[in-house]
Amino acid sequence: MARETAYTCSECGLQSAQWHGKCPGCEAWNTLIEERVAGVGSARASARRSAGRGAGPGGSGARSRRPTLAARPLREVGATPLERMATGIGELDRVLGGGLVPGSLVLLGGSPGIGKSTLTNMALGHLAESGRRTLYVSGEESAEQVRLRAERLGPGALRVPILAETDLDTVLDAIAAEAPAACVIDSVQTLHSGELSGAPGSVGQVREVAGQIMQLAKSRGTAVILVGHVTKEGALAGPRVLEHLVDCVLQFEGERERPYRELRALKNRFGSTNEAGLFEMRQGGLVEVLDASARFVAEATRAPGSVVLAAMEGSRPLLVEVQALVAPSELEQPRRVVSGLDRNRLALVLAILGRHGRIGTGGSDVFVNVVGGVRVDEPGCDLAVALAVASASRGVPLLRTPRACFGELGLTGELRWVGHPERRLAEAAKHGCGEVIAPVDSGGGACEAATLADALALALPAGSRALAEAAA
Ligand SMILES: Nc1ncnc2c1ncn2[C@@H]1O[C@H](COP(=O)(O)OP(=O)(O)OP(=O)(O)O)[C@@H](O)[C@H]1O
Ligand SMILES: [Mg+2]
Repeated sequence: MARETAYTCSECGLQSAQWHGKCPGCEAWNTLIEERVAGVGSARASARRSAGRGAGPGGSGARSRRPTLAARPLREVGATPLERMATGIGELDRVLGGGLVPGSLVLLGGSPGIGKSTLTNMALGHLAESGRRTLYVSGEESAEQVRLRAERLGPGALRVPILAETDLDTVLDAIAAEAPAACVIDSVQTLHSGELSGAPGSVGQVREVAGQIMQLAKSRGTAVILVGHVTKEGALAGPRVLEHLVDCVLQFEGERERPYRELRALKNRFGSTNEAGLFEMRQGGLVEVLDASARFVAEATRAPGSVVLAAMEGSRPLLVEVQALVAPSELEQPRRVVSGLDRNRLALVLAILGRHGRIGTGGSDVFVNVVGGVRVDEPGCDLAVALAVASASRGVPLLRTPRACFGELGLTGELRWVGHPERRLAEAAKHGCGEVIAPVDSGGGACEAATLADALALALPAGSRALAEAAA
């Protein structure tokens, strides 16, 4: 069948039968995206679609033969409770909101070599062992390469059927024939639809591939995990519309040099986006880290610039070490380097520290790192960053360590209440950090501070504070 495509401008929506480098409508460059014209598709695809849905009157019939559908109140809509499939990986199930939902589409992103294929291989392996039908589609690696990895991961992973293929129609046919309960597409950027002329991974291709897989997965009740690449900046590669299309967006992150990997939900139609799971990459695959707080507290150096933060990872408290280094800068514009934190958050904390804590860092390079490759994305980390920088800048360790802290800093120098203080305090107590500097109203056992200045007075030796004030 002849290829029937059109080009649509992603900026102004203009449609054109041919590609232009510069949109004739809004004159933006490289915004025309190839799309299949609605209603036109390969014979195989339409046959698969009608088989999937059943050849009912609502299928591909003419508009005049379509029955009129009436809208119904929601209470009259029959809703069966969600039946989730446990993947056998507790941390993954928790981040998904309790397991994979049949018919759902999950997008798993992460930088190269972080362990996306390992995680999905393991999940399918567990599902296969529990008697479910599975399918692993690899567009990146040959079947032999995937087998070599599966050997590391154990006997379950070796039971998973593999299809090393990049042609979308062949993959859709395989999903239709195998009827898996769970399927992994590794990766969505490598599949290619013959209906479009764009290269694999182009915006039009990725959109077409994900759309067709979604149609089939929803009609068959297959849970699909689409593995996706991330850009150099760390965002998911491919069109943003992909994130809207899927039910769940998971991000797998961590430092390559460290074995810890963190899995987060950025979007979840079936659960909270607050949850995070922690793994360690080992010879036998990814191992869930259940005693992360104990490990991070034991590893904390407690040297000048080291502070233990009682953070929340979703509904779970986690103690992590925040380290700071403050050194005189030789640059006109001193460096601000962060790892595991938001860079803008550091800028804000430094400004508050200078203004309300009288600890200036204007002429110094400041480096802040959350140890272990963990990312802390919550306002409760402000106080730990401020104390770590203050302690590093004065060259003195925190008073009465081991101790921990948490709290958000306001622009007027106040220490603001943050969620779940009782869980943070309990976690700190459990791991031997008896004293916790925390905002007012955090509950029993906390060393409460109303302002940044109060917290600095509690944390740093009096002499060093005077020095800091003199230096400011
Ligand atoms: N024998 C081993 N022992 C421990 N870790 C290993 C071993 N072999 C591989 N790894 C780890 O597994 C990682 C590769 O995992 P995986 O192939 O799942 O990543 P990926 O995210 O799918 O990568 P890509 O983006 O290339 O597809 C390596 O970076 C390495 O850290
Ligand atoms: Mg991979």
